[in-house]
Amino acid sequence: MDLPFREEKGSRLAPWVATIRQLGPRHRERIARHLLALDERDRYLRFGYAANDEQIRNYVDHLDFERDDIFGIYNRRLELIAWAHLAHSVDRNFDACAEFGVSVSKSARGRGFGGKLFDRAVMHARNEGVQLMFIHALSENTAMLKIARNAGATVERDGSESEAYLRLPPATFDSRVTELIEERLAQTNYRLKVQAKQFWDFLKNLQEVRRGVQDARHKSAP
Ligand SMILES: CC(C)(COP(=O)(O)OP(=O)(O)OC[C@H]1O[C@@H](n2cnc3c(N)ncnc32)[C@H](O)[C@@H]1OP(=O)(O)O)[C@@H](O)C(=O)NCCC(=O)NCCS
Repeated sequence: MDLPFREEKGSRLAPWVATIRQLGPRHRERIARHLLALDERDRYLRFGYAANDEQIRNYVDHLDFERDDIFGIYNRRLELIAWAHLAHSVDRNFDACAEFGVSVSKSARGRGFGGKLFDRAVMHARNEGVQLMFIHALSENTAMLKIARNAGATVERDGSESEAYLRLPPATFDSRVTELIEERLAQTNYRLKVQAKQFWDFLKNLQEVRRGVQDARHKSAP
């Protein structure tokens, strides 16, 4: 798996800072692609049931980018390797609550992406005035529950399912500025990835054209 670290080598920034960005509706198709690539077990862990392709499509089609907050990590090939959904309550009585859901591509796991997306969502939620963040996970989902516990969440187990909740401190000037800077850097990082990919694709096409011309020359040579 092509990870987003490489281009940050030599950078004085922590490798994470510039990689997690907020996603809008333009990214819907790539979110779908990421989720559809999850196997049955991962779909079960992510949604609480083994969602089929149609259910995943339906879920992605109904993602509300206005109400909710969606964060993602792209690799250099612009594949979405991890993303998180911070769902805000539709009921105004509970607008200080949000629910967190996340998935990381299999080959990118165990490298801290899940945990960092959680931290990013927590910072954003604080700045949005959220006071309680909920995580619904199956009790067997050690990695997800570890992420929640590491952040100080209270985990309540109810048989095969667990509910975790994290009480968030209020936003500060620092948390607001940090988020602004991180998002700005992440947008720049993404744009660079887009340009780099376009340039590599252009070079690849050029090489193919050259190869085609060479082959044609060889064939037509007496
Ligand atoms: C849960 C999930 C998002 C974790 O992503 P990840 O990027 O691999 O997680 P991280 O690398 O940030 O690891 C988080 C913690 O879990 C631990 N961990 C990771 N994989 C683990 C595993 N298979 N078993 C036990 N612990 C594990 C890590 O050591 C880390 O703990 P630490 O910081 O104390 O060392 C990922 O496994 C996934 O996408 N699963 C399928 C979907 C899902 O379950 N979503 C969550 C429900 S909403």
